[in-house]
Amino acid sequence: MNKISLFEPNVGRIEKKLVIKSINENQISSYGYFTNLLEKEVKKITSSKFNLATSSGSSALFVAFKSIGIKKDEIVLTQSYTFTGTTNAIILNNSIPLLLDISKENLNLDLDNLEKFLLCNTFKKGKFIYHKSYKKKISCICLVFTLGIIPDLNRVKKISKKYNLKIVFDAACALGQKYFNKSLTKFCDVAIYSLNGSKNITSGAGGIISTEKFKYYDFALKFSNNGKILNAYDYKMIGFNLKMSSLNAAVGLGQIKRFNYFKKKKKKLKEIYSKELNPIKTFNTKFEWGNYLPWLNFCILDDPKKRDNIIKALRKKNIMVSKFWLPMHKQTTKKYFLLTNFKNTQFIYDRILVLPSSTFLKLKDIKKVTGIIKNSYFNK
Ligand SMILES: Cc1ncc(COP(=O)(O)O)c(C=O)c1O
Repeated sequence: MNKISLFEPNVGRIEKKLVIKSINENQISSYGYFTNLLEKEVKKITSSKFNLATSSGSSALFVAFKSIGIKKDEIVLTQSYTFTGTTNAIILNNSIPLLLDISKENLNLDLDNLEKFLLCNTFKKGKFIYHKSYKKKISCICLVFTLGIIPDLNRVKKISKKYNLKIVFDAACALGQKYFNKSLTKFCDVAIYSLNGSKNITSGAGGIISTEKFKYYDFALKFSNNGKILNAYDYKMIGFNLKMSSLNAAVGLGQIKRFNYFKKKKKKLKEIYSKELNPIKTFNTKFEWGNYLPWLNFCILDDPKKRDNIIKALRKKNIMVSKFWLPMHKQTTKKYFLLTNFKNTQFIYDRILVLPSSTFLKLKDIKKVTGIIKNSYFNK
């Protein structure tokens, strides 16, 4: 029985050719020129002024928080519904993630709830805001673009200005997205993307730090190069080796060349899923603005039990779906976070069905998946 995974990388002839080229030219380490080449090419996708290639999305996040200068014991507001890399990066910077609820409509930080939280739970001292109970400075909001969905970024920017908060976008799942044709970094201090095997394009393992501000880029560049500023063995600051290798960049460069093809495939997959799953009652999300590039396709079932039965039925047929992200407030690591209420997060976690979305899937594969879903849903 053929296995269908949630997502598998689609690596082809072009990537193989570039990997062989990087080996033949001995350009395989983090000092090779393929990494610089990838940064130039990725700029055409992000439209951000500065782009730095790192070893992973997680390391990009770690460096992003460092670059904007969050300090020990400062609070970073983020969502519980995310991948652990988001909160790990905050904690490894000695700061404290305060987790908030998401919106049922777009699975991103609930901006009504965020504004209510800021209004009721903070006080201003000098230029900054502090949490009323914990008496700690709140320095940053980290938005996570769940499944590649972008929320109302004009409103995010207004909130950040009003409360003097830095903004980081965890856009790990959203490479290729714009906000009404504007680069995402026009609305934040730093955005990061992941290029791991499951993302819109992959370099095997990799990440991108994008920003409009030279000072953040310059810090990130030096920090991720072990603190090297001028010549070899001349270190003026503490850093770590977090750069992408040229070997990985060769894979990524090949994927960038095929990105238009992947985008078309992703849009087609979304259309087929929407059509095939139309008879099923789902909770309607409201985030469409025309140029949305789906990362993984998904639907939100009306009934949690039905969702769980569908997952069982699919797994029986070797279709590897799961309940997707376990919210951070439900993890063993929850003791590291400040918690609030998570009504919508729970609602989504109980009902979401994330669908196989590899770009090489054929119509017959999708029909197999949707057939099992419909049979299970209608109890046939
Ligand atoms: C929201 C989010 N943030 C961060 C990461 C970390 O990226 P990476 O796997 O490249 O370290 C991921 C990866 O899956 C993610 O989904």
